[in-house]
Amino acid sequence: MHGVRRGVLITFEGVEGSGKTTQAKGLVDWLCEREIPHIFVREPGGTTVGEAIRSILLNPEHKEMHQKCEVLLFLAARSQLTYEKILPAIQQKKVVVADRFYDSTYAYQVCGRDLSPRLISVFNRFATAGIRPDLTFLVDLDIAKGRVRGVFDDRMETAGKTYHQKVREGYLKLAHRAKKRIKILNGEKLLDDLKREVVDYTKAFLIRKGYKL
Ligand code: TMP
Repeated sequence: MHGVRRGVLITFEGVEGSGKTTQAKGLVDWLCEREIPHIFVREPGGTTVGEAIRSILLNPEHKEMHQKCEVLLFLAARSQLTYEKILPAIQQKKVVVADRFYDSTYAYQVCGRDLSPRLISVFNRFATAGIRPDLTFLVDLDIAKGRVRGVFDDRMETAGKTYHQKVREGYLKLAHRAKKRIKILNGEKLLDDLKREVVDYTKAFLIRKGYKL
């Protein structure tokens, strides 16, 4: 199958309303059309345990949740997803498309909540067996423009403008540091134009990885 030794992990990141989920699903449609073996997962969630953790994390009634509890729950959901779904799929040489992964924790908890990057990185490695995304699309958008695109009422979405601005800046800082892995997309572009950009970029990436397309 495709002559590759292992599968790849492709992640989509971005602020609320950036359109990253639409783009992730667009890539999944293309993988289906091309009959490239793949799975699609989201974070937090993607497993029965993870979806239960997601509902605790996003419940707006849990206003008292401490930021340490919050980050540990995100990591707990990621751990379950990694061992139950991602690692087996990578071993089966599949393309894993993930709507968010650990860059979200860097942007939302390290930059947004001012938690220690070193500590979170150690915890994250513990939770995920050190798996890293091979390619990441960061859909960048002005937070005010993202917020007019839908209803934003969960615990994270209602965290305030200053918080979400820190999240966006955190993502951009990260993308600047990991230029080879993270491809920034302009979230203001038309959805179809972005989809073409994502597909073309992924196609070239998969060919470099040894996929026969
Ligand atoms: P979603 O609505 O894009 O599925 O993401 C759920 C929310 O969880 C979103 O507000 C971002 C937040 N989040 C974190 O704060 N830290 C994380 O590690 C992850 C994966 C998500």
